[in-house]
Amino acid sequence: MSEPIDLLVHSAGQLCLVPPHGGPQRGAALGDLGLIADGAVAVADGRVVAAGPSAELRARFDAATALDAGGRCVLPGFVDPHTHIPWMGDRAGEFEQRLGGATYMEIMAAGGGIMSTVRQTRAATVAELVADNLPRLARLLRYGTTSVEAKTGYGLETAAELRQLDAIMALHDSQPVEITPTFLPAHAIPAEYAGDTDGYVRYLIEDTLPAGAAWMRARGLTLFCDVFCEEGVFDVDQTRRILEAAAALGYRLKVHADEFAGLGGTRLAVELGATSADHLVSTPEADIAALGRGQTVAVGLPGTPFGLAHRDYTPAKAILAAGGALALATDCNPGTCWCESMQMVIALACRYMGLTQAQALVAATLNAAFAIGRGDQVGSLTPGYQGDLLILDVADYRQLGYRFGVNLVRTVVKRGQVVAENTF
Ligand code: NIG
Ligand code: FE
Repeated sequence: MSEPIDLLVHSAGQLCLVPPHGGPQRGAALGDLGLIADGAVAVADGRVVAAGPSAELRARFDAATALDAGGRCVLPGFVDPHTHIPWMGDRAGEFEQRLGGATYMEIMAAGGGIMSTVRQTRAATVAELVADNLPRLARLLRYGTTSVEAKTGYGLETAAELRQLDAIMALHDSQPVEITPTFLPAHAIPAEYAGDTDGYVRYLIEDTLPAGAAWMRARGLTLFCDVFCEEGVFDVDQTRRILEAAAALGYRLKVHADEFAGLGGTRLAVELGATSADHLVSTPEADIAALGRGQTVAVGLPGTPFGLAHRDYTPAKAILAAGGALALATDCNPGTCWCESMQMVIALACRYMGLTQAQALVAATLNAAFAIGRGDQVGSLTPGYQGDLLILDVADYRQLGYRFGVNLVRTVVKRGQVVAENTF
C-alpha cells in the first residue's frame, strides 16, 4: 500500500542531501553533498519524510503533487544567515564617492554611511518598512533563499530599533521566506552620543537591550544580539560588555568581527559561545585557531569586499585547516553589499575564498543554518528537515559558482509548497 504524502520531487539527476555531521560540516569534511543519482525527495506536513532513488520512492508513496525534475539538480533551499534587511532608501551616491576614492570608514566618520540609512529608517513607520522591504524578500526567494536572518541596526534608539523588529516579524508573516531576527542596536554610534561611545553602551545596556528582551519574551521568541566590533565603532571591551549583558537577558550572540581591523572580536565570540562570528577578513591567526576549537560558526561575506572593491576576503582555507565551521551569507545592506543572491555569493566564494562548488554549497545551506541556530531544521534534505528545496535549471551542481550574475534556480519549494517558479 502506498503511503500518502503531499509532494514528491523525483527524477533529479543529482539530489544533494547535504547531510549534517552531528552538527555543521567542519574543516576538511566540508563539502559532503550526499549525492543521490536519479534521486527523489518526499515531503509530508512540510517535512522531508524520505530521500532516495526515484524508482523506490515512486513505488512507495502516493503524492498529492508530483514534480518531475527532469534530470535537473535538486538541493536544499539556500539559507542566508546575515542580512541587514529591513532598511529605507539607498546610498548610490556614496558608491559614486567611493569610486572617486573615499573609503567606507571615512564616509561613516563624516556622518554618512550607516548614519545616512539610520536617518531614513528612523523616519519610517512599520508599514513603510514592510512595503519597501517586501520586494527584497521576493527577489531573494526567486534566487533560491528560503530562510534568512534579518538585523535591526538602522534605528540606534530603543523605539526605532523595536519598530525594525516589528517590521521584521511583519515581513516574516507576509511572505514565504522564514526570517530569523537579530537585534543590532550596537551597529554604530548615533549622533546623540557622538564622542561618547561608552555613554551609548550604557544606554544600550540599561534601556535598549532590556526593551528588546521584553519584546522577545512577549512573542515567545529568542533574538540574537549582534555588535559591530570595529575600529572607530565598538572596541573589544565595549563589545564584551554589550554581549555579556545580552547573554544575561537571554539573547543568543553574534559578532561583526574583523571586517576591516582584526581587533579580537572573533576570539571574543568563541569565548562567549556566540552562534556565529561574521565577516572575518582581517582575522588574526590566534582567532582562526580559536574557531577550530570552539562551536562558533565563521560566516564569510564575500559580497562585501567585492562591493567595496577591496582585495582581501575571508581566509576560508585557513579556517578549514584549523577545523572551523564555515558558512556563507550575502550581508545584504545598502552600504557595502546590496545583493540578494546567494548564487552570486557562491561564485565569489569559489574565486576569492578558494572554495570548491561543493564546499560553497554546503556553506550556503546546512552550515548557514547552523549559523542562525537552525541547523536541525533547514539546510538539508535529510528526513526530518523542512521540505525547503530548489530545482535548478541545470543538471550539475557544479554549474553553481561557475556561472554567475544569472539565476540558475528554476523552482523554489518551501515546506512542500511551490512558492516560486522562474521561466527562462
Ligand atoms: O556588515 N559593517 C557593518 N554593517 C554592514 C554595513 C551596513 C551599512 O553600511 O549600512 C556590513 O558591512
Ligand atoms: Fe553586516
